[in-house]
Amino acid sequence: MRKVYVIANWKMYKTAREATDYIEHLLPLLVDPIENIYLSVPYTAIAAASSFAKQTKIVIGAQNMNDAKEGALTGEIASLMLKEAGAHFVILGHSERRSLFNETNEFIHKKVIRALQDDIQPILCVGESLEERNSGAMEKVLKEQISIALAGVPKSSVEKLILAYEPVWAIGTGKTASFDMIEEAHAFCRQVLAELFGHKAANAVSVVYGGSVKVDNVAKIMKEKNVDGVLVGGASLDAQEFAKIVHQCKK
Ligand code: PGA
Repeated sequence: MRKVYVIANWKMYKTAREATDYIEHLLPLLVDPIENIYLSVPYTAIAAASSFAKQTKIVIGAQNMNDAKEGALTGEIASLMLKEAGAHFVILGHSERRSLFNETNEFIHKKVIRALQDDIQPILCVGESLEERNSGAMEKVLKEQISIALAGVPKSSVEKLILAYEPVWAIGTGKTASFDMIEEAHAFCRQVLAELFGHKAANAVSVVYGGSVKVDNVAKIMKEKNVDGVLVGGASLDAQEFAKIVHQCKK
């Protein structure tokens, strides 16, 4: 059985103080929750949030990192810095990084390799734009994003990674992909993984959906066969709302 993940992506919201207040509020709301509740918090909140969340079901991670071990890269952050601060995972290739900060598949690939090497779990985000979907290029785009990002990753490591399918046109827009579209894209991502790593490894990788996930659509999204969890942006910022989402994520 694949693991189920509920992942919050706070983006550039919440100070360290706000992060611990949120966790304090969230914890009593998590009655019999699923195992893997991940909070991707701003860099400055990682240390406080991870020490606050110690010995709970909440796992803290980051939203980006550089691929270099260290260097003269003003403003960047390295995987070992994140790890020491208490991050267990890192989101890589989020569409906001790709579109607003010009991140390429090749750069994302280097980050995936670095994260695996330094034992920080990568959440690789892939997804097509509306233009790409409308021109029939969805499969080509997903295949390219996955195969470039994961080139050279050993079969034994691929199971450590989480793949997130996030259609760009559904992120922060209130537009969710239809349930059929979600299942079709997830099944396709798994097919690409199988072509690259074989069926056994592909069936072990959790593929989560992101893009306007909310309290009132999450249960139906989770019903789809190839959906192993969700990546939640806007609706994760409120602890109460996020707890309601978590409780609907059992498979
Ligand atoms: P959203 O964001 O839930 O606000 O659409 C999802 C994401 O960016 O990961």
